[in-house]
Amino acid sequence: MGIPPANSISDTENPLLGIHKNDTPIPFPKPKRAKFVILFAFLILTGLAFGSSKTSWLSKTQQNFNGEVHIGDPEIVESAKGVVAADDARCSKVGASMLRRGGHAIDAAVATALCVGVVNPMASGIGGGAFMVVRSASTSEALAFDMRETAPAAASENMYKNDPKTKVSGPLSMGVPGELAGLHEAWKKYGRLPWKTLFQPAIQLAKNGFKIHGYLGNDIIKHQNTIKADPGLRQVFAPNGKLLQTGDICYNLKLAESLEAVAEQGPEVFYNGTVGERLVKDVKKAGGILTMDDLRNYKVRVNNALTVDVMGYRILGMPPPSSGTLGIAMILNILSNYGSTNAIEGPLGLHRLIEAMKHMLAIRMNLGDPAFVNVTKYMSDMTSPSFAKEIWHKIYDKTTFPPEYYLSRWNQVQDNGTSHFCIVDAERNAVSVTTTVNYPFGGGVLSPSTGIVLNNEMDDFSTPTEDSPDTLPPAPANFIQPGKRPLSSMTPLVILKDDQLAGVIGGSGGMNIIPAVIQVFLNHFIQGMDPLTAVQSARVYHKLIPNVVSYENVTVLDGEHIELPEQTRLFLEKRGHQVKPIGIAAICQLIVQTFESSVDLGHKTGRKFIGDTYLGTLTAVSDPRKDGRPAAI
Ligand SMILES: *[C@@H]1O[C@H](CO)[C@@H](O)[C@H](O)[C@H]1NC(C)=O
Ligand SMILES: *[C@@H]1O[C@H](CO)[C@@H](O)[C@H](O)[C@H]1NC(C)=O
Ligand SMILES: *[C@@H]1O[C@H](CO)[C@@H](O)[C@H](O)[C@H]1NC(C)=O
Ligand SMILES: *[C@@H]1O[C@H](CO)[C@@H](O)[C@H](O)[C@H]1NC(C)=O
Repeated sequence: MGIPPANSISDTENPLLGIHKNDTPIPFPKPKRAKFVILFAFLILTGLAFGSSKTSWLSKTQQNFNGEVHIGDPEIVESAKGVVAADDARCSKVGASMLRRGGHAIDAAVATALCVGVVNPMASGIGGGAFMVVRSASTSEALAFDMRETAPAAASENMYKNDPKTKVSGPLSMGVPGELAGLHEAWKKYGRLPWKTLFQPAIQLAKNGFKIHGYLGNDIIKHQNTIKADPGLRQVFAPNGKLLQTGDICYNLKLAESLEAVAEQGPEVFYNGTVGERLVKDVKKAGGILTMDDLRNYKVRVNNALTVDVMGYRILGMPPPSSGTLGIAMILNILSNYGSTNAIEGPLGLHRLIEAMKHMLAIRMNLGDPAFVNVTKYMSDMTSPSFAKEIWHKIYDKTTFPPEYYLSRWNQVQDNGTSHFCIVDAERNAVSVTTTVNYPFGGGVLSPSTGIVLNNEMDDFSTPTEDSPDTLPPAPANFIQPGKRPLSSMTPLVILKDDQLAGVIGGSGGMNIIPAVIQVFLNHFIQGMDPLTAVQSARVYHKLIPNVVSYENVTVLDGEHIELPEQTRLFLEKRGHQVKPIGIAAICQLIVQTFESSVDLGHKTGRKFIGDTYLGTLTAVSDPRKDGRPAAI
């Protein structure tokens, strides 16, 4: 029994959206699944597909194509053609609709990003920034688009000295927004659909209203004081003086106007035109320092993706100021020293992972914006197998250590918020995007004349005055300078196996992103869990200081309960870890490509290839921790 291609299955909801067959979510954990299909015989098949690599990881990595597919779960879809996994069902569909029109994955990414900016304005939007990794299937080129917010020209190292609160909230906490510039740059290079077309779904949602889903609804309640205190936020989230709630329809007419202008006139109207002028005027009026020159001088940085080969996979990600790819590289290099998959499974494997994460956190705070600080040494350390081996020798199976042991020199910056989505198109072009306004509702200011939520990304910088006796000193590599970009945990990744696309992955949740992404990566690609279980499984987090392992114990919006097993918790406590429960700390989206038949794999000229590019089945998962759903064509 095999899996029929998605387009041959009739879908009760929408025939174009893949295999959303059963509307009833099956609770997790699922001791007995009503419906599943075992993909069998893949040990042999993947052996053929990836036969060239002979590492000790191979035997287990093969199993990742041997999992169960939970047909019927709304968090998972399959397709032979193209998939989008965003943290909102409407936006996954918007992305898929662009793929269906023949768009490149980048077209879908622009439309999806604009959509999540409208329906989840607490997490991202055109007033924020993003990291995007794109891998083109036909050229194998992998680019990293850095559209992160930048310190304004009038910013300075000690600007928050007299009033530290202004670093976290209010208009002074705002960095120069990069999202629109970055989306446009990527679209100029890869886009096939008209720029204007990509904006229409987001404009409609903002103009005609969108239903507030649970995650936004909860954030409106949680941050109601912030909303009530700001005239712009009130205008959108408390029209007529009453806070909107889950299920209500929300309108952002000013944002619709801004998006319409950018759709018609291009990003210049934001960076050097009327939308920008209105934004700057609102920011000035609120007490901020953003100028038109700041907007005019904003530059997207486009570099080759950072490439790391580890455990039989090639990982493509963002270079600094992201600490994500380097963090993942260092942890995987450390764990590689154990030599086998078994060694990093189960409670002991988790202890080893936590120890590797603690070492990584200590070293990552030496990173900063490479345009301003020389991070060459730390980049080479964090990607070096021999450096990882030295660290590995310091990890003990029987105990953990206090923070000093990890030679941490600098206090961690703790970022927040964000939204992540993954897209793969019919040609297997792959896009991984993490987008953010930092804290929920950014700096707590919405520009009334443009409908744009201001980010508070300046809080991701370290400052000299954040020094107190009970913390480590602030990290100088991450001090503010005009035009500099703050360090980030955002970790959008594209994963290759033998030069073929194996997956796309990333997450949201600030400092918890790296631990979340690495656990999902290990679960699926190394330990062989099926994609949904890999995302759903309970996770742990660590911040080095305090010296605490946070374990998930949470019931998510659709009623599924996610909790680290008791015996794992007890095992960690026996090793000296202090453990504490945590709620939803990070959200991950995942796409994987699996390989179907030996005949197709054996004959490159077969219908399963375009040129050298293999066309396997795509499986997309949106994390049930947020109310997202993936979509397929
Ligand atoms: C901004 O617009 C003006 C004309 O309106 C133009 O002369 C100038 O080159 C533009 N600057 C940038 C950075 O695009
Ligand atoms: C950066 O630091 C490395 C050593 O850590 C050094 O070799 C290199 O010359 C430095 N680059 C610059 C531009 O100073
Ligand atoms: C932001 O992250 C910090 C550190 O993780 C946390 O203490 C804080 O509560 C978060 N803020 C919001 C508004 O979620
Ligand atoms: C998990 O959370 C539930 C409440 O939702 C609580 O009753 C239970 O004690 C918690 N368990 C652990 C181990 O934290």
